[in-house]
Amino acid sequence: MRFDTRCVRGGIAPCPTTGAIVPPIYQTATYVLEEVGRTKGYDYTRSSNPTRATLEAALAAVEGGRHGACFSSGLSAVDAVLRTLDAGDHVVSSDDVYGGVSRLFNTILKRHGLSFTYVDSSRAALVAEAIRPNTKLVWIETPTNPLLKVSDIAALAEIAHARGIPLAVDSTFATPALLRPLEWGADIAMHSTTKYLSGHNQIIGGCVVTNESAFQEKMRYQQKAIGAVPSPFDCWLVIGGLKTLSLRMARHSANGLAVARFLESHPRVARVTYPGLESHPGHAVARRQMSAYSGMITFELVGGLEAGRKLMNSVRLCSLAESLGAVETMITHPATMTHVDVPAAERQARGLTDSLVRLSVGIEDPEDIVADLRQALERAG
Ligand SMILES: Cc1ncc(COP(=O)(O)O)c(C=O)c1O
Repeated sequence: MRFDTRCVRGGIAPCPTTGAIVPPIYQTATYVLEEVGRTKGYDYTRSSNPTRATLEAALAAVEGGRHGACFSSGLSAVDAVLRTLDAGDHVVSSDDVYGGVSRLFNTILKRHGLSFTYVDSSRAALVAEAIRPNTKLVWIETPTNPLLKVSDIAALAEIAHARGIPLAVDSTFATPALLRPLEWGADIAMHSTTKYLSGHNQIIGGCVVTNESAFQEKMRYQQKAIGAVPSPFDCWLVIGGLKTLSLRMARHSANGLAVARFLESHPRVARVTYPGLESHPGHAVARRQMSAYSGMITFELVGGLEAGRKLMNSVRLCSLAESLGAVETMITHPATMTHVDVPAAERQARGLTDSLVRLSVGIEDPEDIVADLRQALERAG
């Protein structure tokens, strides 16, 4: 099956009992055994559930991997991957990661004996230099949240594998419609399904996709042993979202490029970052690795923080909200919203300035999005 077909049909079969074309929601906590020791494949929903199993098969199909495992949030999916490590292990991570990921690494996992070195993973040599004898995982985001740095997955996979280390990619911003990390050599692809994969701002969820059966067994064990699993209803909503993923990502990407070009040409905008612009330092890698550039843009205004604040308070169509990857255009101030728990000094060192504005371009008519930004830019001046 080609990609667009996999989005609609992958991992999904008609209900064997009724023929329902939409998979049923198995909203059940437990399952009646046929006799002691004999189940129909399910015993308790923390361990497994038919609606979740359908979503996991669908996610594996669209990501081009053999196995999928779902979690109750993107962060719990990250946590599940990291919990496969032992105290004393070291991780090399992209320096620009979602603020909740750095919070998890720095305030919780460090206390449990893991150590982290953060590097700009768009420079592969820095990743190679950061690897230590006890490094057990390379963790990257591409494009990163919020600075949209682009890393070369094939180059990083080669570096990691030469030292016997797995490479995990948080591919939330790209989605399998635009980039499939496993095809470029990564061992683990992770997503916040809260974002583009479900696409409609209705659920919080996460997933991990891999080709490796032994790693998948560890994910299954985490689901059972820790219990950070999504509800059947939430799984069902993601199944519905996945069917239009390819269409939505084409529109998000087309709108993203149109809005980025508008911002780039506006005199009140000092700097625009979008991997689809020729001015982006990672554009060549993005062009090779991705089929389009998604809907995430960051920019700074000529008047800095104050102008950015006025802009965010003046938008009418764009929603001032802390998320991304849904059909509605959302505008965010990373320094006070998504990345507020990254210490100020670290934010500055990363280049995540207080005046940075993040835009998640939705699938509305691009002229309406541009018109809203134009009027807000006028007020911000
Ligand atoms: C790149 C990235 N990874 C992980 C997460 C965490 O996902 P969730 O909010 O579903 O826990 C986010 C959330 O914004 C994100 O942007």
